[in-house]
Amino acid sequence: MQRIGVLTSGGDASGMNSCIRAVVRKAIYHGLEVIGIRRGYSGFIDADMGPMNLSSVADIIGRGGTILHTARSERFMTREGRAMAMENVERFGIQGLVVIGGDGSFTGASIFYQEHGIPVICVPGTIDNDIAGTDYTIGFDTAVNNVVDAINKIRDTATSHERTFVIEVMGRNSGNIALAAGLAGGAESILIPEIPFNVEDICKKLLNGIKRGKLHSVILVAEGAASGLEIGKKIKELTGFDTKVTILGHLQRGGSPTAFDRILAARLGAKAVELLMAGETNKMVGIRAGEIVATDLTEVLGKPSPINKEMYDLARILSI
Ligand code: F6P
Repeated sequence: MQRIGVLTSGGDASGMNSCIRAVVRKAIYHGLEVIGIRRGYSGFIDADMGPMNLSSVADIIGRGGTILHTARSERFMTREGRAMAMENVERFGIQGLVVIGGDGSFTGASIFYQEHGIPVICVPGTIDNDIAGTDYTIGFDTAVNNVVDAINKIRDTATSHERTFVIEVMGRNSGNIALAAGLAGGAESILIPEIPFNVEDICKKLLNGIKRGKLHSVILVAEGAASGLEIGKKIKELTGFDTKVTILGHLQRGGSPTAFDRILAARLGAKAVELLMAGETNKMVGIRAGEIVATDLTEVLGKPSPINKEMYDLARILSI
């Protein structure tokens, strides 16, 4: 292995830059060359790529987003698109690939490996924390901290006006962001796709809270569970409370990565390079119980990444 490629794909996540830095510097440390592929699989197909050196990744450790840019490529889902990417693999002399992204990106990497035999190692980078085989994905911790920061701010105004707030957070089909941020931020109710809920029960809880003197309430809704606007409307109808809705949207994805995400990104990126050098392929690096581990992509793709039910139950108990 003399030359590897690295790309970021799918939704950006804070810490992706820290991971690119780790891949580039670890590879160069071992005498490898690195080709940075821009705009994910789109740039792979369009030959939007070039050599990276130690300075290419200077001053990026604390920056959100990805200096390589990212995309969701429909062309890479086709055999023709992947064949074009393979032409660029040959043209640029790439012998192994590090893909930083989510499960859609990993599916593309796995098919590419099966069709063309180029070794691929995947690194989980998504705010959703919805990937089997790893306890955490790069960007999740930063996103959760962004949401907690927003809850703190909203609580100030909610208390002042004695209002109920519904906050909708991202996560696609996963309730992990809502659950972690809800527990950390003391949300009164957390609505996630993994656990059934009904708005009547939430309203009963709100009314009980008012009875015991609560001045405000914050309800966290994962986008995969329901629309924040709909929930807010229903609560207002059923309780008559002055209910406001905030959809946090893409601000959850940005900002300087937390120390946790930077360290995770550094460890995972370095491990990905080690695995390529050891001749491994079709694997994802992840963290489990604090240890960096490699899991075959067959055990990752399409496999469930369950929420922590104990955390959910605790959040309920503590928010009574
Ligand atoms: O997968 C990351 C994520 O931020 C999800 O939480 C969200 O549903 C989706 O991406 C939004 O995608 P886009 O940025 O393309 O609107």
